[in-house]
Amino acid sequence: KADLRARILEINKLAAKYFYAQLKAPQGKTAYDYLKNRELSDETILAFGLGYANKYSDDLYRYLKTKGYSDEILSQAGLISIDEKHGPYDKFWNRVMFPIMDANSRVIGFGGRVMGDAKPKYLNSPETVVFDKSRNLYGLHRARTSRKPYFLLCEGYMDVISLHQAGFTNAVASLGTALTSGHASLIKRYVKEVYLTYDSDEAGTKAALRAAPILRAAGITARVIRMDPYKDPDEFIKNLGAEAFEERIRGARNSFMFDLEMLEKDYDMASPEGKTEFLKEAARRLNTFDEEIERGNYIDAVAKAYSVSSQDLRKLVTRMAVEGG
Ligand code: GTP
Ligand code: MN
Ligand code: MN
Ligand code: MN
Ligand code: MN
Repeated sequence: KADLRARILEINKLAAKYFYAQLKAPQGKTAYDYLKNRELSDETILAFGLGYANKYSDDLYRYLKTKGYSDEILSQAGLISIDEKHGPYDKFWNRVMFPIMDANSRVIGFGGRVMGDAKPKYLNSPETVVFDKSRNLYGLHRARTSRKPYFLLCEGYMDVISLHQAGFTNAVASLGTALTSGHASLIKRYVKEVYLTYDSDEAGTKAALRAAPILRAAGITARVIRMDPYKDPDEFIKNLGAEAFEERIRGARNSFMFDLEMLEKDYDMASPEGKTEFLKEAARRLNTFDEEIERGNYIDAVAKAYSVSSQDLRKLVTRMAVEGG
């Protein structure tokens, strides 16, 4: 089993080098131009080991065969599929390739992006004995040595790469999946604070709302950075630059306050009854902070944000704790 893992890591590494060489070869020009259009430098391309899976349907297969690997292990590595009629063929065709590394910089899988509008936009390696999507984060191999005491957690490969290129080397992304407690405990090994930097669309907002309690449950402080009026961190950085992004980090609202802002939509905040009901729900939520000082800090923040006295809100919080529900 240990041997199988080592062999698959070896195959992945060879494939990553092969894809990189393809990107730099004449047949990789479209892919290379695509990355240049997305404003990635040669240093960035090399640092993230970006590559190109060309249009031939079995050249990677044939290359890896010359290295002596069996069809079985190549398919276990997730790079080759075996068709009953047509035999083995490459999983990735005509895509820009993003090798996914673990914290120790070993290649555990790949993401591949089409260069146009075809679907699926991204194709990812299947989970294998070395690739567990819920326990790895894209960009972690670099973010782990960042000196910042927090991570920027975003959605996509390009977000991570753009942020690193702009100097935010503490950016990571979950691999096209929702954040899990496995991700949270992985993050906890390196930092105790996370800035959620998800996309501005509804899916991104929802994902942030779901991620915050998972992080909080792992003892990580979660804050949310808004990327509007742009779609995601990659586009934000390209349009407004690193300094504007820094500003967003500084102005990041704590996700608890962010959640409350979302909650406001469910109440008629203009009427006294509506606002009272809203504050009761806020008080219930404030009771989820077990630590007294922390709870007190949030009570003060909520009181200030909604123009009620801290003392009254404190009483309401206590009352809701007794009444429950
Ligand atoms: P760009 O368009 O290249 O900027 O990508 P993006 O990261 O902005 O894409 P998007 O916000 O749509 O998706 C975020 C992340 O979800 C991607 O980086 C992928 O990891 C994943 N993802 C997006 N589209 C697909 C897809 O079609 N299939 C799969 N499996 N994952 C996807
Ligand atoms: Mn190929
Ligand atoms: Mn998105
Ligand atoms: Mn994007
Ligand atoms: Mn996006």
